[in-house]
Amino acid sequence: MQAKQASTLVIVGAGGHGRVVADAAVCAGRWTRIVATERSASPRTGQLLPGVELVPLDVALALPDAEFHVAIGANDVREREALALGARELATVIHPAASVSAQAQVEAGCFVAAQSVLAPGARLGIGVIVNHGAVIDHDVRLGAFSHVAPRAGLGGKASLGARVLLGTGANVLPGLAVCDGAVVGAGAAVCATIDVAGTYAGVPARRIR
Ligand SMILES: CC(C)(COP(=O)(O)OP(=O)(O)OC[C@H]1O[C@@H](n2cnc3c(N)ncnc32)[C@H](O)[C@@H]1OP(=O)(O)O)[C@@H](O)C(=O)NCCC(=O)NCCS
Repeated sequence: MQAKQASTLVIVGAGGHGRVVADAAVCAGRWTRIVATERSASPRTGQLLPGVELVPLDVALALPDAEFHVAIGANDVREREALALGARELATVIHPAASVSAQAQVEAGCFVAAQSVLAPGARLGIGVIVNHGAVIDHDVRLGAFSHVAPRAGLGGKASLGARVLLGTGANVLPGLAVCDGAVVGAGAAVCATIDVAGTYAGVPARRIR
């Protein structure tokens, strides 16, 4: 999953989530140099974290032998920035304190945070975030650029479509599906398949927008 050795990791996104990813990347110990950058008219300078220098986007894009990770929590923005990287290689960052089954499949550009669990048969599409303490049970599928927020979870064989946000502490019962682009609010319990995009909240989750 993380077999390839690249010397430099460029983290695109220097906000709170960028700091979390940078911290995990440092802990992972896989890169000899880690830098962070952001798309901004007045980019910041200095360090995102100790040892993680902030560099302008054009400088970051020109670095040789680099892998890129888009560390932006908002699913649509993360997808857009990943597409803007074109043919550049997307790196997955996995915190060493995550529990990742050897039978889990993780595509490029994913982030798997500390204390999260990927059970056997879990499949993560490109650019997925599995945040702190999230539990992805056996045979769960997470669509491209979806985000499972801290302490959220999915039961066995459940699935999220592309760009779904499963809010903090929310749960999807085993075997159920959430369609592309849906937002599930913090603390919700998805007790029936969601097949119309919208915002869902509560226990059981109901559409609020
Ligand atoms: C569900 C959510 C998306 C709604 O956001 P919103 O569209 O801006 O909605 P509002 O804040 O205007 O709230 C609309 C109504 O839903 C209620 N509501 C909002 N979030 C709720 C939630 N998680 N559970 C239950 N009710 C909720 C509000 O109290 C409000 O009720 P009212 O109309 O009776 O006053 C948002 O509150 C949420 O839970 N986001 C998840 C955030 C998260 O976990 N991010 C991960 C970061 S890593």
